[in-house]
Amino acid sequence: MQNNRRIVNIALIGFMGTGKTSVGRLVAEQLHFNYLDTDEMIQAATGKTIAEIFSTCGEPAFRALEEKTVAELAGKTQTVISAGGGLPVNPQNLAGLKTHALVVCLWASPTKIWERVRNQTHRPLLQDADPQKKICELLAVRAPFYKQADILLNTDSRSLREVAQQVIHQFRLQAIRR
Ligand code: S3P
Repeated sequence: MQNNRRIVNIALIGFMGTGKTSVGRLVAEQLHFNYLDTDEMIQAATGKTIAEIFSTCGEPAFRALEEKTVAELAGKTQTVISAGGGLPVNPQNLAGLKTHALVVCLWASPTKIWERVRNQTHRPLLQDADPQKKICELLAVRAPFYKQADILLNTDSRSLREVAQQVIHQFRLQAIRR
């Protein structure tokens, strides 16, 4: 781990449907940390849903809003941050998060992801003729970015509570090591 980091937050990254929101809320509750979600921050700042931003402004505009949001997180402390699934593909975002947060990637297989997202309709990137294929394609492109996290946690056969416990454990471990 780089030394020029002041790790006071936890950032959860990972594909859609890996449990970042639910796990993030549990971790924040248990550590008595604040909880922030980059998608929620973008929605609050624009007054639009993520789907509306994609359809009216396009994906590049959404990615620019994500970058701006990550920059705004720099001054936070004792905060659990849940990052949108595509956010770590921008290297500037990952580097920015790493300056103040332990970056934990929640990983899941395409089959598990599909099981978890198939009944949800709010994610524009999965409104596709073949969403399962889309999940595999996006996951393949994003895997190298997700793997740059400090910690990679497979969520396939773990409950949300177990994943949250693991995140807390890793956060405490790194505090001891530093
Ligand atoms: C996206 C994931 C979504 C949201 C947007 C784009 C992605 O967040 O940011 O729909 O590119 O994977 P979640 O990962 O919280 O669903």
